[in-house]
Amino acid sequence: MQENFNQIQKEFDKDISQVSSLNDIEQIRIKYLSRNGIISNLFDKLREIPKENKREFGKSVNELRDYITNIYEIKKKEILSKSSQESSKIDLTLPANQIKIGSKHILTQTLEEIKEIFKSLGFSVFEGPELESDYYNFEALNFPDDHPARDMQDTFFISKKFLLRTHTSPVQIRVMEKNKPPVRAIMPGRVYRNEAINARSYCTFQQVEGLYVDKDVNFSELKGTLVSFAKQFYGNDLKYRFRPSFFPFTEPSAEMDITCFLCKGKGCKVCKNSGWLEILGCGMVDPNVFKYVNYDPEEYLGYAFGMGIERIALLKYGINDIRIFFENDIRFLRQF
Ligand code: PHE
Repeated sequence: MQENFNQIQKEFDKDISQVSSLNDIEQIRIKYLSRNGIISNLFDKLREIPKENKREFGKSVNELRDYITNIYEIKKKEILSKSSQESSKIDLTLPANQIKIGSKHILTQTLEEIKEIFKSLGFSVFEGPELESDYYNFEALNFPDDHPARDMQDTFFISKKFLLRTHTSPVQIRVMEKNKPPVRAIMPGRVYRNEAINARSYCTFQQVEGLYVDKDVNFSELKGTLVSFAKQFYGNDLKYRFRPSFFPFTEPSAEMDITCFLCKGKGCKVCKNSGWLEILGCGMVDPNVFKYVNYDPEEYLGYAFGMGIERIALLKYGINDIRIFFENDIRFLRQF
């Protein structure tokens, strides 16, 4: 029997020598000193021990228990004081590490702002595919096969019939095919042009197309809507002008300019000394376009407009290089 006690004591010595944490010390308590622990079991055994041996057995268990409890308490104190020393090394007055939270890209923010303004003016939002057919990108928009206006668009062709859309105007056709007038929609999306990349142009950018078709739509409503948009977006003291222009799918057509953000209209390099910067193209929907979507040109009139989101944002925030939007330089992105 005594051998057994010695063995338990040896095992305990080994266990306690390996203790290094509060959890370890707790494991020791459970193993040796808890209600189902080794010591408790030995006391239970006392009942089965023949009378003449009971005294000696009891004495041995008591000794073993005292031995274990003693060393256990000492070790526990040691571990506790070590861990409180360690936690006192933590300086609670130090400022916490700052967590950097991501934010929406400035172009996403700009698009959201544009959408909100047009929604408040009664426009719904539609989208169309980026891979388009020649039919939607050109033909139904009144660009005949041999029309020189097709040269205005430097196009990424996928095949003879398919291409990456060069503007969002094809979505006008798709919306009109699916909806009877009145139609009042904006159509944001990515477009592609096979252009050399420089400070002013990029091979892909985003546009927002607008379309309103109804019985009595006129050019002054178009101007009113665009001026209202521009003032909400850039501020009430905005100066603007409309210039005659040409698009195959609108007649008459115009472009809208606002005062150059850099020189405030005095003339500089960015505005090529004119004091003005173009923000969008627009016009009354050409009656030929209505024929492609089975709208009666005798009954309906419409206006359309298209603006580049990057350009709109450049002018608002005074950025002079379009490429900066696509570099994802965190120092730029964090400013918004
Ligand atoms: N799609 C034209 C462009 O990309 C813009 C435009 C849209 C002009 C609608 C008139 C009407 O330049």
